[in-house]
Amino acid sequence: MTQRLGLIGLGLLALAGCATDVVDGKQAYLEDCSACHGTNGKGDGPMARDLAKAPADLTTLAARYDGTYPRDYVMSTIDGLHRQEGFSYEMPEFGAGNRGGIVAAQVLI
Ligand code: HEC
Repeated sequence: MTQRLGLIGLGLLALAGCATDVVDGKQAYLEDCSACHGTNGKGDGPMARDLAKAPADLTTLAARYDGTYPRDYVMSTIDGLHRQEGFSYEMPEFGAGNRGGIVAAQVLI
């Protein structure tokens, strides 16, 4: 019994460890993306007018991909692991080093 409780405790400790690694997506978006894509994702952030290519309107992604949110495409674009041909270099790469392991884990799933 004591051994079982010990294992549960270890499990909870592991979960607590994971919890600290979770990224607040909204906060991360506001910090890393909104300058170009705008606070509402429409592509009208304050930096947009200074770029050679206009930032994409992220609110129409699902509609442009047959009604299904293209999660793998989005994660790969953000991470920089794979970008479609002709993708401009105006958007920086936000590889795994930027936000810890969570982006890499999303891409690998
Ligand atoms: C410095 C400006 C800038 C920042 C910061 C930026 N982007 Fe972008 N983003 C762009 C531009 C410009 C494009 C269009 C590139 C192209 O199509 O060649 C783009 C395209 C994209 C696309 C592809 C959309 C599509 O319709 O194919 C996604 C997804 C995306 N950005 C998400 C993000 C996310 C999420 C962040 C924050 C982690 C971010 N971007 C930060 C400028 C930026």
